[in-house]
Amino acid sequence: MSIQSAVKRKTAPDILARKNGEPIVMLTSYHAHTASLVDRYCDVILVGDSLGNVMHGFETTVPVTLEMMILQGHAVMRGSKQSLVVVDMPFGSYEASKEQAFHSAARIMKETHCGAVKLEGGARMAETIAFLTERGIPVMAHIGLTPQSINALGSFRSQGKDEAEALARGENVRGPIQNDAIAVAEAGAFSVVVEAVAEPVARKITQTIAIPTIGIGASSACDGQVLVLEDMLGLNARVPKFVKKYGNLGSMIEEAIEGYANEVRSRAFPGPEHVYGGKPKA
Ligand code: KIV
Repeated sequence: MSIQSAVKRKTAPDILARKNGEPIVMLTSYHAHTASLVDRYCDVILVGDSLGNVMHGFETTVPVTLEMMILQGHAVMRGSKQSLVVVDMPFGSYEASKEQAFHSAARIMKETHCGAVKLEGGARMAETIAFLTERGIPVMAHIGLTPQSINALGSFRSQGKDEAEALARGENVRGPIQNDAIAVAEAGAFSVVVEAVAEPVARKITQTIAIPTIGIGASSACDGQVLVLEDMLGLNARVPKFVKKYGNLGSMIEEAIEGYANEVRSRAFPGPEHVYGGKPKA
């Protein structure tokens, strides 16, 4: 007999069905505790490889391993009940061949129990996306600024300026980012993250393709939005232009730590209520 959870978790087809519907809300999470909070309000939780920057202090996402993604992916699954959990495929775990991608994605799905994987790349990854989706692995694609390619790109710059200018001139040509969007949609991705892409291009892509676009530094016209949780909570001092801070947890945490340190030093903490047998019964 199988024991099913009473709460039905969202699936990749549920998210695909939201094209042109109610905006899809997505945030990152890497831990069970934050996952349980994010789960109450979001449709999708992304276990992003940005965990390399946020949790481990790496300059880029390039050093992130499959093992790191699996460990945190499993934690997020344990902490959440209703959101679709998507786990990022880290750099080096899928680019060599579609077979390599399948083995890595299958490990992620088996060992975390997540509902989908995400990988970076447009037209160049279309064959791999088709290979995975035909074999039962839902894929979220990621186009525009693809941080895993930082060493080839040189810097984290916004993408699609020339395409936006062509659109503004009324030219009906498809640029490389639009081609990437069409390629991943036709390959069977159930949605696509569009990162740091000029607004008119992101808007045009959203109107053109049949799968939901999830914007980050893209357009309010996208079918959904994603941010890195720690960025929007105000835990990172330096964030990209596209981040809106919905909280200022960095200074709240610092205040709490300062208060604790001061009270330990002055012996105000622990008080009688925090020790065993230290407070006489009334
Ligand atoms: O790794 C990540 O957090 C991401 C988001 C920025 C989309 O890919």
